[in-house]
Amino acid sequence: MESKMTVSYKELGLVNTKELFAKAVKGGYAIPAYNFNNMEQLQAIIMACVETKSPVILQVSKGARDYANATLLRNMARGAVEYAKELGYPIPVVLHLDHGGDFEICKQCIDNGFSSVMIDGSHLPYDENVALTRKVVEYAHSQKDYVTVEGELGVLAGIEDEVSAEHSSYTPPEEVIDFVGKTGVDSLAISIGTSHGANKFKPEQCTRNEEGILLPPPLRFDILEEVEKKLPGFPIVLHGSSSVPQDLVKIINTYGGKLKDAIGIPEEQLRKAAASAVCKINIDSDGRLAMTAAVRKVLAEKPAEFDPRKYLGPARDALKELYKHKNINVLGSAGKA
Ligand code: G3H
Ligand code: 13P
Ligand code: ZN
Repeated sequence: MESKMTVSYKELGLVNTKELFAKAVKGGYAIPAYNFNNMEQLQAIIMACVETKSPVILQVSKGARDYANATLLRNMARGAVEYAKELGYPIPVVLHLDHGGDFEICKQCIDNGFSSVMIDGSHLPYDENVALTRKVVEYAHSQKDYVTVEGELGVLAGIEDEVSAEHSSYTPPEEVIDFVGKTGVDSLAISIGTSHGANKFKPEQCTRNEEGILLPPPLRFDILEEVEKKLPGFPIVLHGSSSVPQDLVKIINTYGGKLKDAIGIPEEQLRKAAASAVCKINIDSDGRLAMTAAVRKVLAEKPAEFDPRKYLGPARDALKELYKHKNINVLGSAGKA
């Protein structure tokens, strides 16, 4: 249960995405949207973003709310704002609902300090997606402090706890003007070949280079360009944008893991997307891989260890380095806060 009193995100020191996206589209970079479920993940995100002077979107999924408790997560985000200041550089922090499944969850988040929500009606028939998204936008934009809304058009493949779609369908560029016009969304997630999780492509969809390394099919930049032509300067979002670093997969499998055919989106392609109207890039799986690799290594090398700080600490360090690398080399958000 969440408290009955409503809380505005401004009281928590958070910002919405409006200004951040406007700057990112103009500047040819993307704001990192990192998911968190626990303290170590949040510490790593904030440390990395403060050290690289990057704005950040903290994402909370339904799975995260069920796991960690919504009230606790909201107050952790408030703490994150204070923590950034204490680290010496106050960065803009957005608290965003990831893949909101219905109006009620979006409303609950808006009433409880989120500065941004996603309403994911991508699996619905077009007219139902428009109607649901419009309803969330009307509520979010009528608040005293304007809450920004992300909608989605097109379906990503991939299976996760709360996000599942067996078959993907690319975003039809001819629908985007109508969708944005009718719904009033502040940003639009599109489907151009990314997907959730650590197995983004089947091996048969990939080619191999001379060293036998699997190369995934390229993202559909033609669709992205069409969308940009129809909606010049409008903020576009990419979900499912983990790169699944093979060194992390190798560490996991060396220390007892069994990840098979794990493959992600190459970093150069994300960099190219970030230089366009893509101004928010969602990354969760890479963080999971970094933490798991570090935890497995510590526990394998020090089997007598039983203090959680001794394995969660190295996991947090690995996560922080991963995020710094993303901000500096992939998203281009470093130095933009
Ligand atoms: O896109 C979804 C995120 O990766 C969150 O995943 O629902 O398992 O928390 P989750
Ligand atoms: P990944 O599974 O590729 O990290 O995508 C995360 C995501 O899209 C969260 O909304
Ligand atoms: Zn997603």
